[in-house]
Amino acid sequence: MKDASPQPIYLSDYTPPEYLVDQVELTFRLAPSATRVISKIRFRPNPEAVSKRFFLHGEGLATISSTIDGAPVTPREVEGGIEVDAPDAPFTWEAEVEIDPKANTALEGLYMSNGMYCTQCEAEGFRKITWYPDRPDVMAPFTVRIEGDEPVMLSNGNPTASGDGWREWTDPWPKPAYLFALVAGDLVAREDSFTTMSGKHVDLRLWVRPGDEGKTAFGMEALKKSMKWDEEVYGREYDLDIFQIVAVSDFNMGAMENKGLNIFNTSAVLCSPETSTDANFERIEAIIAHEYFHNWTGNRITCRDWFQLSLKEGLTVFRDQQFSADMRSPSVCRISDVLSLRGRQFREDNGPLAHQVQPDSFVEINNFYTATIYEKGAEVIRMLKTLVGDDGYRKALDLYFERHDGQACTIDDWLKVFEDATGRDLSQFRRWYKQAGTPRLKVTETWDDGTYQLTFTQTTPPTPGQAVKEPQVIPIAVGLLGPNGDEVRETQVLEMTEGTQTFTFEGLSARPVPSILRGFSAPVIVERETTPDERAFLLAHDTDEFNRWEAGRSLAKEVLTGMITGGDAPQAAYLDALATMLRDDSADPAFRALALQMPGEDDIAQTLFDAGMTPDPDAIHEACETLKQARAEYLQDLLPRLSADMTVSEPFEPNAEQAGKRALGLQLLKLATRLDGGKAAQAQYEAADNMTHSLGALACLLDAGKADAALAEFRERWKNDALVMDKWFMLQVSHAAPAEAAATVERLTKDPAFTMKNPNRFRSVFGAFAGNPAGFHQKDGSGYALLADWLIRLDPINPQITARMSGAFETWKRYDADRQDLIAGELDRILATPGLSRDTAEMVGRIRG
Ligand code: ARG
Ligand code: ZN
Repeated sequence: MKDASPQPIYLSDYTPPEYLVDQVELTFRLAPSATRVISKIRFRPNPEAVSKRFFLHGEGLATISSTIDGAPVTPREVEGGIEVDAPDAPFTWEAEVEIDPKANTALEGLYMSNGMYCTQCEAEGFRKITWYPDRPDVMAPFTVRIEGDEPVMLSNGNPTASGDGWREWTDPWPKPAYLFALVAGDLVAREDSFTTMSGKHVDLRLWVRPGDEGKTAFGMEALKKSMKWDEEVYGREYDLDIFQIVAVSDFNMGAMENKGLNIFNTSAVLCSPETSTDANFERIEAIIAHEYFHNWTGNRITCRDWFQLSLKEGLTVFRDQQFSADMRSPSVCRISDVLSLRGRQFREDNGPLAHQVQPDSFVEINNFYTATIYEKGAEVIRMLKTLVGDDGYRKALDLYFERHDGQACTIDDWLKVFEDATGRDLSQFRRWYKQAGTPRLKVTETWDDGTYQLTFTQTTPPTPGQAVKEPQVIPIAVGLLGPNGDEVRETQVLEMTEGTQTFTFEGLSARPVPSILRGFSAPVIVERETTPDERAFLLAHDTDEFNRWEAGRSLAKEVLTGMITGGDAPQAAYLDALATMLRDDSADPAFRALALQMPGEDDIAQTLFDAGMTPDPDAIHEACETLKQARAEYLQDLLPRLSADMTVSEPFEPNAEQAGKRALGLQLLKLATRLDGGKAAQAQYEAADNMTHSLGALACLLDAGKADAALAEFRERWKNDALVMDKWFMLQVSHAAPAEAAATVERLTKDPAFTMKNPNRFRSVFGAFAGNPAGFHQKDGSGYALLADWLIRLDPINPQITARMSGAFETWKRYDADRQDLIAGELDRILATPGLSRDTAEMVGRIRG
């Protein structure tokens, strides 16, 4: 039964569990539509409990039998589970339940994907498998026996026994139920091993469906690099005899860190040069690292409750960002991370879905696996590290692992470790976790005879439920450049703690040009009056690569907003600066590719809205098209030489160096396409021997309106590769002209290869649609109605994906009254759907406001 008016749960209502678990024994008798789960669980009263109620979570379980210490009991059904009269002393609970994995299309709990059994238990999926205190502060060792005729049957921990038709796995490390995993089916493994820093041998297995073996090499290498890196940088060693990864086609998220048995969306692990782009390789390396790093930050030390989710996610994202920076170019990684932070987290923080890194309440926890919990959470840790320094950070992390290993912790525990290790008072810093919204940092300056002053004022706009904000600690990394471009003051971190604060630099021989918020030292929006010449100067001279890029970016945005609003559009300064930057052969091609990338249309919309205007998606699209054409014409003389320089003659390697050249090469191809109507793109498409090149060329052909033949050829060639077909769907929607986007979506949903049961496929069409703002926001509301129709259709099948995709509407208050009316109508229509899931009801309700 769906809950009609879902009730929020509050952080302030937290109470310790009434009973703790000493041991879990599970037996699975696998059958697609009638799997039996037999549980034997040792409970004991928690001395810390405030009540004696014995409550077990459960959802959709058919109970066959239940006993306490061998005597049959009759549980009372209550909201979300059962209550049983239990002794005030240790006892054994046994139950047998039946579940239906085949009917489970929500992909939470035990379900079937492509003929194999698999699980997803985070956050609250274990309760769909058996009766259990399904909360992260109940941790226990698990032994799991799997019975069935599947060739491969896996669970967490080490393999401890097996026989004809059964396997047993034992995980000695106490864990919460959300880290439980089971996989069974026809699978093949890439096998490898790793020797840990203390000399222990670990078997490594990457399991895939037969036929996918050729896409496992890179993932395995990434895993070994991650294991080594975590030893070297954090002193963290792996703790079981075996570490396994399984690739699953139907998966709601990227991947999941189940203890010793990570489960991955195929898109987050399988790759090969022929089928995957450089961006895919980079993302896969980061996700494999992320899930592996969770073994310590998430599993050995977990969360007390789901309000602490960022304790593990913010920290683990920060760690995977550090890892990627070490494997690749740090500044290029930083720029990409900030691009995605602004595109997703700032967008969230500036709309109806804004929430704290540590929320006070939620209705459905699955709705809080957000950019704020993950990416802003990582930014907060990055700032903490900046404030306490590298040594302080290392000391604090050592203390964190020493003090809290084996525990379920809070964000306050985390901050206390930093206070104890460094002696620093973090009470004001804590506001980063408790105040939602993106701070605006206004900068003014004065210059007087050798003395330069910077004055900063911080304000954070109100967010839902939080009208008033207090000043936060903001580490502002600043450097100063002299008139000839030399750095006259090296990077220094200014610690801002007040609402308004002035910092003074003495003894300068000329008025400097400031480089503010170097490396994006805080997740804030800087507002400073400046000139196009100064931006061009920074793009040419800043020693901080991030701010060099930022200067070019701001200049491009100024041109676009000027074109749209009829204000100043410093196009000449921008084009000239771009040409200078491109000609700088000492600059990393990856950097130049990023500097050449256009600001996104959604970014421009938010910028206009912030400046008090109503963005018009068509006008934004038009301006971008015009500027793209102007860039192509202005830069045309540069193209042949630069394109030739970007040719990679060695065999394909997905490393940063080659990827950077290909990225710049593709940016140049986009420019060339505007001049030659797609000739060069067609040639590249035909000659391509890797997916980065074919997909890049195909995108250009779509933009040029010359893609029909290539699209048909591509489809025929890749029709049996689901991950490549996702790209085929996605590209057509994201490159559709505004007036054709909705029709393209409708056409593609009728393609025999379209299915809404596979999250990757659904996202490849509708995620791309939401990412094509001018198409989605067509004045007649056709885009809104189309998305709403499909969300209503998907909700009974997969509430999590439906709720997530409803985020396409989160920016609706930016737009004109007509568009707002149309969107409100669609949101209301979704909300009025009988039996709407709690996930979607919460999200759409919050968006509607
Ligand atoms: N913990 C996983 C990760 O970040 C994500 C799991 C998300 N699950 C969910 N139901 N929202 O690696
Ligand atoms: Zn994670």
